[in-house]
Amino acid sequence: MAVTRQVFDAVIVGGGGSGLRAALQLSEAGHSVAVFSKVFPTRSHTVAAQGGVGASLGNMQEDHWLWHMYDTIKGSDYLGDQDAIEFMCRKAPELVYELEHFGMPFDRNPDGTIYQRPFGGHTQNFGQNPVHRACAAADRTGHALLHTLYQRNIRSQCQFFVEWMALDLIRDRDGVVVGIVALEMETGQVVLFQAKVVVLATGGAGRIYQSSTNAYINTGDGLGMAARAGIPLEDMEFWQFHPTGVAGAGILITEAVRGEGGILLNALGERFMERYAPNMKDLASRDVVSRAMDQEIKEGRGVGPDKDHVLLKLDHLGEDVIHKRLPGIREIAIKFASVDPVREPIPVVPTCHYQMGGIPTNYYGQVVVPRGQQHAEPVPGLYAIGECACVSVHGANRLGTNSLLDLLVFGKSAGDHISAWLKTHPEQRDLPRQAETLSLARLRSLESDEPGESVTQLGAEMRRVVQHHAGVFRTEALLSEGVDKIRVLAQRANQLRIVDRSQVFNTARVEALELQNLMIVAEATLVSALARQESRGAHARDDYPERDDREWLKHSLWYREESRMAYKPVNLQPLTVESFEPKVRVY
Ligand code: FUM
Repeated sequence: MAVTRQVFDAVIVGGGGSGLRAALQLSEAGHSVAVFSKVFPTRSHTVAAQGGVGASLGNMQEDHWLWHMYDTIKGSDYLGDQDAIEFMCRKAPELVYELEHFGMPFDRNPDGTIYQRPFGGHTQNFGQNPVHRACAAADRTGHALLHTLYQRNIRSQCQFFVEWMALDLIRDRDGVVVGIVALEMETGQVVLFQAKVVVLATGGAGRIYQSSTNAYINTGDGLGMAARAGIPLEDMEFWQFHPTGVAGAGILITEAVRGEGGILLNALGERFMERYAPNMKDLASRDVVSRAMDQEIKEGRGVGPDKDHVLLKLDHLGEDVIHKRLPGIREIAIKFASVDPVREPIPVVPTCHYQMGGIPTNYYGQVVVPRGQQHAEPVPGLYAIGECACVSVHGANRLGTNSLLDLLVFGKSAGDHISAWLKTHPEQRDLPRQAETLSLARLRSLESDEPGESVTQLGAEMRRVVQHHAGVFRTEALLSEGVDKIRVLAQRANQLRIVDRSQVFNTARVEALELQNLMIVAEATLVSALARQESRGAHARDDYPERDDREWLKHSLWYREESRMAYKPVNLQPLTVESFEPKVRVY
């Protein structure tokens, strides 16, 4: 197969919110930028973000970035790095106003300011009471954001490679990242892209779970690329279960429903969150609400013939509020749950939603890996932003609305950092000879005539294992059995075969490549979760029910080579303010 080559200043893998925000910063500064996306960019998973982007604008009540910072650290169960969290919360208002000036159609208050609604875990005055902090465009905030950024990128002449899949990073002898190997999905053509900088912005990998709010494209491609290039994955045991996925369908019902006044009920009609979080109730952080729901179901107070879900009641908000603030939710409930929330409650269940861990970075988006004891160094030429990165602002549990904020803040920050670097480093390093060899070998193996494994079957087995062995509540026995099973599946993934090779637009080939990436993420998840012997944020161990700051106030690092674990300290030192010391977390 003849492999051609193209050259850019920067290659960005992923056309969602973070990729587009970084691309905009770079293309407006005059750099040549290529953005790769498996789907048309405005169909990236950011489009599914519903409820809002967090920023302490204080349009509806007094608010302060320091309160936002406190909430984020508490939400993270103290595993978030406080320098990065300060950076994000301070920058939030500027980034939202910038979007407003780009033309993003936010909802408005009567005085013309941006409408803000309460969200879980966001409070006034260091935990006192819920605050209106989520800047919203109805319940389609991600959709509005993505379209705004895409249009802006078209204006700045960013170049898009749509329906392309990145396969592997290219590192030279000195370990510098100098490009990627990519596959054009329509033709099957493999092309080398040489670049001074590569940015991974591939989103999450929530498709390792059977029940997930994630798009089918969320297959951890950036994590797979990084792990194959020898880069560790950080905090992979922490997966967020969103309390309100439509039971049986997995589609997201935004937390904004509870922000607007919706409540959760069990089979007895009790507003059970009053018992679990007496102050914040239904607006406690997601890990707390999801565990409470799971507990209600386990104790027999679930709803339906199998008592396997609870109800989200919002009819008392009135048709006008639902129509104005939550139109998308009404449509989803009618289509996927056959209920009209104007009259009936929506059946909901905790559903995998967000990956808190990822590729380790600093707040400039540079990928940083430990070298020796305590010391971390950037991987030259490589950045990661958005959900695929672990910066770490979300720690063990992300607060709702901080995902859109994360991708804006760190997308822009990476763009600025890269732009400054490119100005002083105009030279393009050479690609190593035969940079495509490993990627081509993987493709050839998929098309081998030797007997092998079916993508559909192996994928289903992997999702079953992760769902069962790494769910809301975990134990040593469950996790170690899960690790054994996933290691067998990961071996089998080396023998994946494409059954029908006749198609030109070969989605089977892409699905096989995606499954190889998912398998890496699944193994990282189970191994990291087994190792962490405490309960913190979204990682709830029945056998270690307490948070253990003495042993476990540290970030996990999973290395694909030998599937081994290492650890690094949490940064408890903010940039300019006093540190927030770990405390017992109650809502
Ligand atoms: O509930 C939601 O609207 C989701 C928002 C988020 O994950 O930040």
